[in-house]
Amino acid sequence: MDYKVIISSKIEEELGLEKGIVMGLLEVPPRSEMGDYAFPCFQLAKTLRKAPNAIAAELSAKLIIQEVEKVEALGPYVNFFLKKGTYVEDIVRQIISEKASYGSQGTGEGKRVIVEFSSPNIAKPFHVGHLFSTVVGSSLDRIFAFEGYDSVSVNHLGDWGTQFGKLIAAYGWWVDKEALIKDPIEELNRIYVKFHVEADKDPSLDDVARQHFKNLEDGKEYETALWKEFRELSLKEFRKIYDQLGIEFKSYAGESFYSDKMDRVVDILSEKGLLSQSSGAQVVLLDEYNMPPTIIKKADGATIYATRDLAAALYRKETYDFHKNIYVVGIPQSLHFKQVFKTLELAGFEWARDCVHVGFGLVKFPGKQMSTRKGDIILLEDLLREATEKALEVIDEKNPGLPDKEDVARKVGIGAIIFTYLKNSREKDIIFDWEEMLSFDGETGPYVQYTYARARSIIRKNGTSKSLEGKYVSTKEEFELAKTLASFKDAVSMAIDKYEPSVISRYVIQVAKDFNKFYNNCPISTESDEVKNSRLALVEATTIVIRTAMGLLGIDTVERM
Ligand code: ARG
Repeated sequence: MDYKVIISSKIEEELGLEKGIVMGLLEVPPRSEMGDYAFPCFQLAKTLRKAPNAIAAELSAKLIIQEVEKVEALGPYVNFFLKKGTYVEDIVRQIISEKASYGSQGTGEGKRVIVEFSSPNIAKPFHVGHLFSTVVGSSLDRIFAFEGYDSVSVNHLGDWGTQFGKLIAAYGWWVDKEALIKDPIEELNRIYVKFHVEADKDPSLDDVARQHFKNLEDGKEYETALWKEFRELSLKEFRKIYDQLGIEFKSYAGESFYSDKMDRVVDILSEKGLLSQSSGAQVVLLDEYNMPPTIIKKADGATIYATRDLAAALYRKETYDFHKNIYVVGIPQSLHFKQVFKTLELAGFEWARDCVHVGFGLVKFPGKQMSTRKGDIILLEDLLREATEKALEVIDEKNPGLPDKEDVARKVGIGAIIFTYLKNSREKDIIFDWEEMLSFDGETGPYVQYTYARARSIIRKNGTSKSLEGKYVSTKEEFELAKTLASFKDAVSMAIDKYEPSVISRYVIQVAKDFNKFYNNCPISTESDEVKNSRLALVEATTIVIRTAMGLLGIDTVERM
């Protein structure tokens, strides 16, 4: 039941207004002493030819709404106080009957979105920055799917480009086969770095590399076989990480997938008269839009990153007919996406406006809190392992007898990292702080997981609510908690509108806080059966919402911790 709808239609009826006018005017007052909803009468003063205060006074005297306990005029406002017991009962019933789908309004039905995320570069380490794209993207993918969209997760692997010419050259000269078997990405990265050092001394190495890439683009056997090996070795490593995070992709169409689809892009751009020559290269000029040109083909004929992105966008539109095409990529690539989208628009593709770059900030590790394997790049594997170890320490201290400790520690540790990434708006930089992120009582993943486990233990001890016909009492805490649970759908819509998983993480923290206030103020086991029943149902509804919301972030809940 939507109280906003009920109240606004009563107001419309009473004032003889057209349907749908009042809905948008209803407000939620900043403090609950001012009611649960408020209706400001300013806007109607003209139409009704009356002073706002007079309208408010009149309305409050006349309105009788079954679900509303009290209607009060305060200056130009009419304040509505809901019947708390009815309200709590109503929300709890709805949650318990809808279960895991509670919070979804199904507005995405029939629409398809592409969520591209993670997209690491093969033969290069997967680092903490890639993790940002991975957790934001995976969460958006889950949120869209929850809301009914057909969400297609795409990993646009960096598996094509001139760097593979360099790698192939370096492989021929310096690879250590044993090291390659032990840690493929590390070895490939080593020889790649070595290539740059050596090429600085002897630029002719670059010519060799260029030729190798040309051969690769032409489909020559030697280069193709090596490239395939690099790709497979890398994917195997990346998949280990995705498995730990519970992430799957519907498509791994990366840059190489478009290697035979780029001529068409060049043709289209040239047909539309968009291509210009610029010192041997072919470009699309964007001066008019205050941007540097999009480079389509280099002087040596090699295509580049942007060309592959243009081909990918075309392919996605033709294959998936997307409603939105979302790129979860760091803010430093903003200009690149602006250029790509503008180029598509100039080529006459109206759907260019449905392409969205979802950027995110940097990841910082102050001090030396990480025991990294080497140098200053922090590898994801190390990060996940360290989180699990640290979570285990915390659990050992708080609950040494816990069964399945390792499994719980993994879920808590990884959950803590994911939550740290998703807790603030994505464009903000992240500063890692182990102590803070693993704490059970800050605004953290473990805090929410702990709250969930506590709620589950209440249910284990007392059983689930025997019937929903409890006497729904209306303490402030129960009412506040129920109101927060009721606003889950709003959090989901807002997260979608803003492409912002943090809306969900902030929301679930609020649920946990409201639940803990309720838990501390409203006894359960010592109450009469009626009260006990209604409170148990509220506890159960809370666990449903927390579990769903955490799931949208990609975080598992645990029964005990
Ligand atoms: N592989 C790139 C990188 O690691 C990210 C790819 C972003 N996606 C795209 N469609 N350009 O920087």
